Amino acid sequence: MSNENADTKQSTVRSTGQETSDILTTRQGHPVYDNQNLRTVGNRGPATLENYHFLEKMSHFDRERVPERVVHARGAGAHGVFEAYGTVGSEPASRYTRAKLFQEKGKITPLFVRFSTVIHGGHSPETLRDPRGFAVKMYTEDGNWDLVGNNLKIFFIRDALKFPDFIHAFKPDPVTNRQDPVRQFDFISNTPEAMHMITFLFSPWGIPANYRQMQGSGVNTYKWVNKEGEAVLVKYHWEPLQGIKNLTTKEAQTIQAKNFNHATQDLYEAIERGEYPQWELCVQIMSDDEHAELDFDPLDDTKLWPKDQFPWLPVGRMTLNRNPVNYFAEVEQSAFGTGVLVDGLDFSDDKMLQGRTFSYSDTQRYRVGTNYLQLPINAPRKHVATNQRDGQMAYHQDIVDGVNPHVNYEPSSLGGLKEAERPGKDHTPHYSASLVRAKIDRQNNFKQAGETYRGFEEWERTELIFNLVDALSKCPAHIQEKMIEMCYACDDDYGRRIAEGIQQARPTMEGTEGASADADKAVKEAAEKGKD
Ligand code: HEM
Repeated sequence: MSNENADTKQSTVRSTGQETSDILTTRQGHPVYDNQNLRTVGNRGPATLENYHFLEKMSHFDRERVPERVVHARGAGAHGVFEAYGTVGSEPASRYTRAKLFQEKGKITPLFVRFSTVIHGGHSPETLRDPRGFAVKMYTEDGNWDLVGNNLKIFFIRDALKFPDFIHAFKPDPVTNRQDPVRQFDFISNTPEAMHMITFLFSPWGIPANYRQMQGSGVNTYKWVNKEGEAVLVKYHWEPLQGIKNLTTKEAQTIQAKNFNHATQDLYEAIERGEYPQWELCVQIMSDDEHAELDFDPLDDTKLWPKDQFPWLPVGRMTLNRNPVNYFAEVEQSAFGTGVLVDGLDFSDDKMLQGRTFSYSDTQRYRVGTNYLQLPINAPRKHVATNQRDGQMAYHQDIVDGVNPHVNYEPSSLGGLKEAERPGKDHTPHYSASLVRAKIDRQNNFKQAGETYRGFEEWERTELIFNLVDALSKCPAHIQEKMIEMCYACDDDYGRRIAEGIQQARPTMEGTEGASADADKAVKEAAEKGKD
């Protein structure tokens, strides 16, 4: 990008409104007269302690990094807009939600998106087999709405308590610091609900070609609430108008040999060229109840809501039209969370969603800092009036005309901030049940995985088998056995091809002949079990 371009772009970083110049200064604003030489006693040293410019430059450099995101560390971002259709399919949006951003046709809401990979660090290759993050922050007139989703529409687990274990199993080994299929499949083979996600992940859907040609999904089940306080269950999906493109393992390896930033580059360059990527936002809607007629629970994020029963209803369109001017300030410091909803949008009882909602702002107070919401990329584009105060790096406290600045508490009769009026009836779900630790009914861990397997094109199935066999052939026999059993439980053909693939891969496996014969026996037994 040329400097000229950078200057004409709206910057979210500059905030002072002061006259600018190209003279180098310290962070205190002092002009720097010599940026090449330390101040020393004679030109051979030693240096002196009052080298303020040097000390400031070096100590700031020493603090340049903040902690990476514990997951989704590798990412790329862009600014854009959301344009509402004013309708949900053929009905007015107001029938289902009073959220202002959806009400009028053509209503524009500015937004920021961050795409990411999940498991590895901030500079890891973008060709890895991994879900892709798809996090959208809408700066609505009612405050921010974050829709923190992935490219795939389901997830590995359905209970938030399991998330740290799942992530540990997929992250590098704490001893060798290498990602290890044995650890991954040790966890997966003991987590049958993950089979649906594994079926997607090891197919070409596990390596989207780039960020522009992939779908996005909220994955978890949310609610919409209308003026009467009536709620429906909702799932969100982003459909790319560029089409969907996924890679085979070989294609990904070819790209990775030459470029490990290809997705970031693709997004940035497309926007610079003026080819603004677009996605249509669609929702699936269900009435707000348990839906005993379904063979899955609508709050189970390992399940798809069948499209023929719950059609994708378009509600608006997103266009990404501006690149960040400072990666760190805008992309790295951006902070999304599932708790960030506006009036008319609500949580469901989805146990993953509820666990996630604690985790995001908790990690962001640690990763970015207590006042992360004062940073321009995270701050709402509307007036904020809060009695929350101070903390590290407090940048400002908004003064509100006519509000007594001495009153930083509520309630007060001395002219402090007041509660808002409710914009509609509250949604007040009723609960009556024992407090338990228990799995949900209707787990049905394998049926949809089988349907997904059969729904793939043949080349996708072939890739899935190749990739899974490749990973499983590095695993001990008892893990292979469990995995074959679960693949059979999804679909006979799936189980058979995995079992055969593992057997064929056997001669290339390490170990003694005896161990290999034992493993063959185990594979055969597992195949028999899975068929039952
Ligand atoms: C990032 C936790 C499940 C999508 C993160 C981060 C944490 C986290 C701690 C780092 C946030 C930051 O540093 O700013 C969890 C927990 C989960 C969970 C505890 C389950 C209980 C999911 C699911 C999805 C998802 C199901 C997909 C819908 C994302 C995305 C990001 C992220 C897209 C990156 C956001 C960004 O670009 O900054 N998650 N997550 N997570 N998570 Fe989750």
